[in-house]
Amino acid sequence: MIRLTYISTARGDLDEIAIAALLAASRCHNQRTGLSGLLLYDGVRFLQALEGEAEPLLATFARIKADPRHRACVELGRAEVAERAFGDWDMAWQQVATAGSRGTLVDTVDRLVAQVPDPNTRALFTSFARLDRHAA
Ligand SMILES: Cc1cc2nc3c(=O)[nH]c(=O)nc-3n(C[C@H](O)[C@H](O)[C@H](O)COP(=O)(O)O)c2cc1C
Repeated sequence: MIRLTYISTARGDLDEIAIAALLAASRCHNQRTGLSGLLLYDGVRFLQALEGEAEPLLATFARIKADPRHRACVELGRAEVAERAFGDWDMAWQQVATAGSRGTLVDTVDRLVAQVPDPNTRALFTSFARLDRHAA
């Protein structure tokens, strides 16, 4: 099994309806192919971890990279893993808020990834949540 993480930039402003459609298709597909993971979106960027068997995962990632809803998709890490970190989440999702609610966001993401055994993956998500959006 492998776990792959990437970051990308959303194209345009994806509204709630667009995100809901993206998630529905992703969950349906991930359930069918045995993939799990976590997707964060802060209104500008996506951070996603995907895990599962290499073949369906890499096929999915190829489709994701070609998706016009985002661009500048950069793979951050890929590793063989013995167990899942995002076990029964076909695609856990968190819209990470921007100004005004950073405390909530940090707490939410910390809670989401608290059970993730791999410290690098955990650190990736918790630091994404802590990015200073105003400075970006
Ligand atoms: C940020 C982002 C994350 C995505 N994550 C997934 C995913 O986890 N699984 C998936 O199947 N598709 C994901 N997609 C959607 C794929 O790019 C693609 O649209 C979809 O899998 C195609 O499904 P369809 O051929 O059934 O329309 C994602 C797209 C974006 C922009």
